[in-house]
Amino acid sequence: MRTQVGIIGAGPAGLMLSHLLHLQGIDSIILENRSREEIEETIRAGVLEQGTVDLLNDTGIGERMMREGQVHDGVEFQFNGMRHRINMKKRTGKCITVYAQHEVIKDLVAARLEAGGKIIFNVSDVSLADIDTSQPKIYFRQNGVAEEIDCDFIAGCDGYHGPSRQTIPAKKRKEIKHVYPFGWLGILAETAPSHPELIYSNHETGFALISTRSPEIQRYYLQVDPTDCLDEWSDDRIWTELHKRVDMDGWSLNDGPIIQKSIVSMRSFICETMQYGRLFIAGDAAHIVPPTGAKGLNLAIADVQVLAKGIVQYYDQNELNLLERYSQICTRRVWKAQRFSAWMTQMLHRNFKHTPFEYGLQLAELDSVTSSIAGATYLAENYVGLPIEW
Ligand code: APR
Ligand code: PHB
Repeated sequence: MRTQVGIIGAGPAGLMLSHLLHLQGIDSIILENRSREEIEETIRAGVLEQGTVDLLNDTGIGERMMREGQVHDGVEFQFNGMRHRINMKKRTGKCITVYAQHEVIKDLVAARLEAGGKIIFNVSDVSLADIDTSQPKIYFRQNGVAEEIDCDFIAGCDGYHGPSRQTIPAKKRKEIKHVYPFGWLGILAETAPSHPELIYSNHETGFALISTRSPEIQRYYLQVDPTDCLDEWSDDRIWTELHKRVDMDGWSLNDGPIIQKSIVSMRSFICETMQYGRLFIAGDAAHIVPPTGAKGLNLAIADVQVLAKGIVQYYDQNELNLLERYSQICTRRVWKAQRFSAWMTQMLHRNFKHTPFEYGLQLAELDSVTSSIAGATYLAENYVGLPIEW
């Protein structure tokens, strides 16, 4: 097989890249090791920055998101028994849209297949070769049969565990990691929305986040110990903790049957260099952020916006300038998102190793940010998404 851009991974990064390239007349093939059903059903985060929403709309795939997604002008922070709203629209002119990542995946897969795009699901043994030449190759197996794709460029959009990043020689990449002492237990519950906007709560017993998915399904998260197992968290225990962490005088969280639950640990990771030769890595393959602030999906989409533009510039003008700056443009923005996610994480989670003094400072920081127009604007600018600095 031959294509202009070989893409490994059909997550938001790989699918959006293929879509953007197609709109510019550039051919790609996506290789995915899971099934279509599996990628369309995996539950992930669900907050889209304004830039992500604009890109989906501008490229013709925002129709269902506009119908089913929920636009939020503000976000709330709860601490010391009080709620404080940050009006993002007023502070920045922008909003966020709550629309689950797997719904974005469904829309992108449908658009690619409808346009005749090639996504090969259920592949195995994917490996990359000759990435430092002008004709890199991808080897893989489909139904047990060995196949090869010759391409001009490879986009490694295969998440943290995929093979792409590992193909960059160890000496050429610097991997920076940080582990947070917190975990998130996330649930989907069948009930009506409790509140019109997201609530991030710093309670003395731990963090909780109230989010939503639809008029019938709600998404809630609880800070847990990252080593906890799901069997330690009965539905009753989850509801007791959630109510304790978010209920206020005259307001109680809606509960209902829990239809899904999972625990994730929290870490930051960044690979410095997102390019080697003709290989470009994007999204989770290059960086991981903790979920506080929901930047993961949005960073993946921003990366491939830069990458697509660079590849278009190469084919249209035989110019490598943007591709050569890809890593620098993306890592600059990724570091800012790492900083924001780490800041939100440390400001909102209860660190049981903190002294009373440190805990007091944490609450005062929340108070300072939410009670100052400058502080609220700063938080809101990051929350709705920073611009790409070309
Ligand atoms: N071969 C082919 N495909 C692979 C391989 C492989 N060896 N390894 C992983 N993949 C696929 C995964 O099955 C997945 O569908 O690559 C895809 C990577 O997608 P994501 O993990 O969704 O990563 P990305 O597109 O970068 O999007 C980042 O996803 O993980 C969340 O929180 C994260 O919201 C962020 C977003
Ligand atoms: C979600 O709805 O899944 C969500 C919302 C906000 C976050 C993280 C996840 O910060």
